[in-house]
Formats: sequence, C-alpha cells, structure tokens
Amino acid sequence: MMKKIVTLSGDGIGPEIMKAGLRVLTHVADKINFDYEIEEKDFGGVAIDKYGLPLPEDTLEASKNADAILLAAIGAPQYNNKEIRPEQGLLALRKALGLYANVRPLKIYPALAKLSPIRNVKDVDFVVIRELTGGVYFGEHTLEMEWARDINNYTAEEIRRIMRFAFEVARTRPRKLVTSVDKQNVLATSKLWRRIANEVAAEYPDIAFEHQLVDSCAMFLITQPQKFDVIVTENLFGDILSDEASSLAGTLGVMPSSSHNACGLALYEPIHGSAPDIAGQGIANPVSMILSVAMMLRESFGEEVGAAMIENAVTQTFTDGILTNDLGGSATTDEMTKAIIERL
Ligand code: NAD
Ligand code: IPM
Ligand code: MN
Repeated sequence: MMKKIVTLSGDGIGPEIMKAGLRVLTHVADKINFDYEIEEKDFGGVAIDKYGLPLPEDTLEASKNADAILLAAIGAPQYNNKEIRPEQGLLALRKALGLYANVRPLKIYPALAKLSPIRNVKDVDFVVIRELTGGVYFGEHTLEMEWARDINNYTAEEIRRIMRFAFEVARTRPRKLVTSVDKQNVLATSKLWRRIANEVAAEYPDIAFEHQLVDSCAMFLITQPQKFDVIVTENLFGDILSDEASSLAGTLGVMPSSSHNACGLALYEPIHGSAPDIAGQGIANPVSMILSVAMMLRESFGEEVGAAMIENAVTQTFTDGILTNDLGGSATTDEMTKAIIERL
C-alpha cells in the first residue's frame, strides 16, 4: 500500500540534505518495490517568513496523518533574538505528536576511525535513548531583566515509558546493557528518575543495568566509549551527550535519529542543526539525512533490506575514501550522494 511521507526540509542546509536523502530513497524504493508519496510542508524559519509561525496548522495536520515524517533541520541566525523562533516549531511538533522516545545511534565506520579526534574508538557501538517530550524543555520558562528561571518537570509515568522503551531496545542488541544517566546527587527530578529506573530494571532481569551520573558519563564517553550499549537519559542530558558522542564518529554529519510516539508514528531527522556556517555552499555532509531515511525504512516500514542497502552503501563509500569537507575530504553534497547511490 502507498505510504505517505511528510517531508520538512526547513532551513540552512536542510533543503540541501533533504534533496540528497530523497534521491537515495527514490533509488532504493525502485529496487525494493516500496510505494510512497511525498508531501513537502513548510516548517521552521521558512514557515515564519511565510505565515509568521514555525509550525503552521497545515504542517501539523499533514504530519499527524503521515505514515512517517522526514525532517532535515531548522534554525537560522536571523531569528536568534526574536520572540518567534524556528526551534519553537520543532518542540511544538514533538509535543503535539507525542514523540517521547528519541533514538540516536552511534556507529564508528572503520574508514573514519583514523579521522576521529578521539584515538580510542575501536568497537564503539552504542545508542542514546533521549526522553524527548518532557524535562526542562517543556517546563515554564521565565525571563526577567535581573533573573530567569526554567522549570524541570518529570512525572513517574514519563520516566517509566522511556525506561521501558530503552530496555526493549537493549533486548534487540547483543550486549543487553542499559546505562541510566542522571544527576541524582543534586536534582529532585533525577532522584525520581533513578527510583523509577530501578523499578523498571526489575521487570527486565535479562538485561544488565547500571546508573551513571551525567558528568562522569560525559567523561567516560571520551575515555571508555566501549563501556556503553544503551544510554537512557532525560531530554537535556540526551541532547548534550549525543552531540558529544558525534565527536567519536568524527562529525555530526553521520548521526541520524528516530523519534517515536506511543501510536506507531515516527519522525526521522539528523541530530545536527541547520549548520548556518556552511549553508548554501553545497558542501554539507548528507549522510546523517540518508541514514535517517534508512532508519525510516526499517523502523516505520519494516523494510530491512532497503535499510541495510543504504547503510552498506554508506560504509562502502567511506571505505572508498569519498568524504565531505567535515571529514577532511572534498566531495560535495551532490558527489557524496551520487557515490552512495552508485553503491546501493
Ligand atoms: P549545528 O549542528 O547546526 O552545527 C554545528 C557544527 O557542525 C557547524 O560547524 C556545522 O557546520 C557542522 N555540521 C552540522 N551538520 C553538518 C553536516 N551535515 N555536514 C557538515 N557539517 C555539519 O549546530 P549549531 O550551529 O549550534 O546550530 C545551528 C542552528 O541549528 C541553530 O538555530 C539551532 O537551534 C539549530 N538546530 C536545529 C536542529 C534540528 O533541526 N533538529 C538540531 C540542532 C540545532
Ligand atoms: C536537537 C536540537 C533541538 C533540541 C533544538 C533545535 C531545539 O538541538 O534536535 O538536538 O535541543 O532538541
Ligand atoms: Mn541538539
């Protein structure tokens, strides 16, 4: 049956990498007989320019009715000190769709290992499960002239469902280890987080389980990254730790993600942003977007063959030494995309 994919290209390098992702999808779909239609919608800065708000009603409606959503990136410097910002649209979309579970895998490509600023990256393979619709992102924000406040809220149920999600992910992985990351030596939300984590861990006797404070976790990600299998953490910590993890891979440009709700709808996006510093130059690394397409094929549509086809083509492209600027190479976005398509 025809699948409806809503695409949100957004701002900065967004349209450049979305085009790359869709080119790859066209070729793979042909090979695996995957039938789909694309509905492109305005989102982020482009939507602010047209309609005065980053998440127009029409974009939200289409997203709700989609079989899957592909998002490239939003955000641009001209909105930095404005009342209405592209980022508000992203948070509103995640909240409105209930996309509470954000999956951010890290894989080290052997061909890229020598390009990583971190020497010790052999055999690193973990996934960050980031809670995406709670925490300080969605608490009350107050900004006065001489003081400001951001409230960090978590309910037991919000913690329970992301924990269960993480343990289910761990069951699909060979090492079966969950590391729950918090700041329970200081934060009340983290004390609750740890209690619920322990309760859920007891439901999964087949999965190894440990706690790690977020500050030392940040350190171990660099010094002993092999330690980790499934990291589960709150919204803000997950944002920061997953960008940190990208430095092991050598660039943000190879980091895809999926975000799931409780009803089987998911959104796929790179973990990086709109990269305003390189936007419009045709040099962005499209791999994070292309791998997000692979995650979509696997997780929303059960198209394992198509997903693996893309992932193998990316690996082969790196092995053949074809690299974009962020990895020290000179391939353009188009050249990189073409090289991946040739290797499908
Ligand atoms: P960023 O992720 O956009 O860029 C950080 C650095 O990584 C830059 O030097 C950039 O050139 C590089 N980079 C990122 N993606 C790359 C790619 N595919 N290929 C090559 N290089 C790449 O983070 P930032 O500069 O802190 O934020 C820029 C804007 O993006 C902000 O407005 C921010 O709010 C927004 N943002 C949006 C998303 C999203 O849409 N999901 C995510 C993160 C940040
Ligand atoms: C991400 C981004 C967003 C976040 C911003 C743009 C709101 O950094 O998807 O990681 O902090 O969640
Ligand atoms: Mn981020």
